[in-house]
Amino acid sequence: MSVTPLKALPLDELRQRTSTKWRKYGEDVLPFFVAETDYALAPEITRVLTRAVQLGDTGYTPPDPGVREAFAGFAERRWGWNVDPADVFWTGDVMMGVVEILRKVIEPGDRVVVMPPVYPPFYDTVEEAGGVVERVPLTASEAGWEIDLLGVETALLSGARAVLLCNPHNPTGTVHTPESLAALADVAERFGATVISDEIHGPLTYAPTAFTPFLAASDSARRVGYAVTSASKTFNLAGLKCAVMVAGGDPQRAKLRSLPWEVEWRTGLFGALSNVAAYSPESDEWLASLLAALDANRLLLAELLAEHLPQARYLPPDAGFLAWVDLSAYGWGDNPAVKVLRDARVALHHGPLFGVEGTGHVRINFGCAPELLREAVERIGALARS
Ligand SMILES: Cc1ncc(COP(=O)(O)O)c(C=O)c1O
Repeated sequence: MSVTPLKALPLDELRQRTSTKWRKYGEDVLPFFVAETDYALAPEITRVLTRAVQLGDTGYTPPDPGVREAFAGFAERRWGWNVDPADVFWTGDVMMGVVEILRKVIEPGDRVVVMPPVYPPFYDTVEEAGGVVERVPLTASEAGWEIDLLGVETALLSGARAVLLCNPHNPTGTVHTPESLAALADVAERFGATVISDEIHGPLTYAPTAFTPFLAASDSARRVGYAVTSASKTFNLAGLKCAVMVAGGDPQRAKLRSLPWEVEWRTGLFGALSNVAAYSPESDEWLASLLAALDANRLLLAELLAEHLPQARYLPPDAGFLAWVDLSAYGWGDNPAVKVLRDARVALHHGPLFGVEGTGHVRINFGCAPELLREAVERIGALARS
């Protein structure tokens, strides 16, 4: 069955938005930095939020907002992952969930493995939880990126206590294979370490690649792991504040139960309502249309780069709407986003923030209209020719 790609909203409407993407820079700048997307909300989300606004239903999130059943249903439909709703807990956002779990599983000063180049808040979050970042970069090749299992093993052997996994990985869009996830879980189990898997980009995996939730990878993954995720990236709900934490088994469930009450209370009611709507079957068709639009954009970006920035290096991601692009051949310094903003008036995410591996790189958000993507790459391409 062919799916109609979702159309992004027109620029004049987007400019009326008040979120970071649209207010950080002036109107002459095209924004491609922060991970917000340019589509209208899924109809079921609009419906529940509109109803809540009409009712003035803006109080505290209730004790059971329906998030656990909605997430378990979504996980089963999309990935055949059988989640016990009792293993699902909620909080304000994914990074809040990660920091609270880390606080439960490490002691102050313990080392936590992260895999650069990686989503910059991973570094801060480990520190916020009292940990120390242990860098084990992804292994890069012409074919893509993968977990450096030997590097992780060495880190755990020398005392690191936890692994903060990004699955799929931001910024490379790597969808880790079931084999590498199972192997990671085995290594973690051997050293008594915990794996926390951030799976916020999971629903945005492009066929034929299949997303494997870490906790579905193996029995040992369920014994060592937690997943933290949200509908917020896929459905553009970041401002509404709701994410889910999933325990791999009874011991982790007990730890999540023992979190301070405040962790759950920080969940926004609109966040919970919209996550339930996003995860419901009513939103499946919208998600299919979104994926069709994003899939076309990730390939369009490859064409645009080949035409306007032929020395750029870019491997289309297997998941997500973020493109990791190496512009170092252009000699625009360690952080090309600075020159691109100044001279092309296009705001990209700064590669070096993701780790030293991001030197000479930028991250481009292609969750937008194809015309806008074209204009941005043309503007940057003009810089390369000047
Ligand atoms: C991998 C990853 N984790 C977490 C987040 C942020 O999620 P939240 O706003 O729910 O903390 C993002 C946002 O782009 C992300 O890419």
